[in-house]
Amino acid sequence: MIILGIETSCDETAAAVVVDGTQILSSVVSSQIDVHHSYGGVVPELASRKHMEAIVPVVNEALGASGIDSKQLDAIAVTQGPGLVGALLVGFCFAKSFAFALDIPWVGVNHLEGHINSVFLEEDPPPFPFVALLASGGHTSIYHVTSHTGCELIGQTRDDAAGEAFDKVAKMLGLGYPGGGVIDRLAREGVPGNIVFPRPFLDKSTFDFSFSGLKTAVRRYIQKQMDTYQQEIPDIVAEFQEAVVDVLSYKVVHAAVVKGCEHIALVGGVAANNRLRERVKQEAGLKGLTVHIPSIELCGDNAAMIAAAGYHYLITGTVSGLCDDVYSRVRY
Ligand code: KG4
Ligand code: ZN
Repeated sequence: MIILGIETSCDETAAAVVVDGTQILSSVVSSQIDVHHSYGGVVPELASRKHMEAIVPVVNEALGASGIDSKQLDAIAVTQGPGLVGALLVGFCFAKSFAFALDIPWVGVNHLEGHINSVFLEEDPPPFPFVALLASGGHTSIYHVTSHTGCELIGQTRDDAAGEAFDKVAKMLGLGYPGGGVIDRLAREGVPGNIVFPRPFLDKSTFDFSFSGLKTAVRRYIQKQMDTYQQEIPDIVAEFQEAVVDVLSYKVVHAAVVKGCEHIALVGGVAANNRLRERVKQEAGLKGLTVHIPSIELCGDNAAMIAAAGYHYLITGTVSGLCDDVYSRVRY
């Protein structure tokens, strides 16, 4: 089954052509970072307008690179939510119209299920059941995953998402938006522990997270060291990153042990973080668990993961209708 995937939930316009939910023929991601950079975050209306400009060229590029003619497509899968409504509507309405014009089925996909399915686009995917840590700009959750479209939420952030904390700390330090990549790079020049920030473990017996206290601790430190903190930025970000990584890696490994799962998947934009990738592998290894992490390009938002998740809906006959609408918030 050849599926065109489309993703416009936030600040990336993406399209991909994927065969049978596993083989990527093409994947194009057009980022709007330049548009939102100076605002220190995504401006929803600008995001929608940029998706409007980009959607047709991005889909054309993905089709061209795949060597597939639109008439050969079997179906379209598109992100339905959660995300920015105006941004989602661009991809959703485009997918609806294109599928109608081509007279093929189409299906709306939960963005978070898309991230979880990103591991199936790599070699050696995890067998079910497994535990997945989804850490992105909007979500930080742990799921017990039992099938491609079935998962149980077992823990989530009670305030900021991990990626959001990276972005906010980067903004405080004047490092621009988004903050994850730049903190990842700068942290290598610093030493965690030279400055000490708290590890927000909450109750160690739950799988919930909280990152706003850590963010506030960084803000307080900057305010206290107003005249000198600029020289300490590598140490500040190294310690901040280590605190986030300590909590994420502890909780996901603990969740796998409690759920009796031998496999862990790490997905979402924050899964691109080098220290997190390293630490989860290390700690899971100590317990004899195997970790599956997509390549960096498949961690961030992309349309191949949407096509991968959509495939599993389509093969079981789940399709969307012309009256279906997008949703901004997650249903689970
Ligand atoms: O999954 P994603 O592309 O979009 C959402 O669905 O939110 O995730 C974006 C988030 C941003 O907060 C960004 O700062 C973070 O992922 N991120 C990283 C890294 N690369 C991206 N966080 C930590 N380290 C990275 N290397
Ligand atoms: Zn995402």
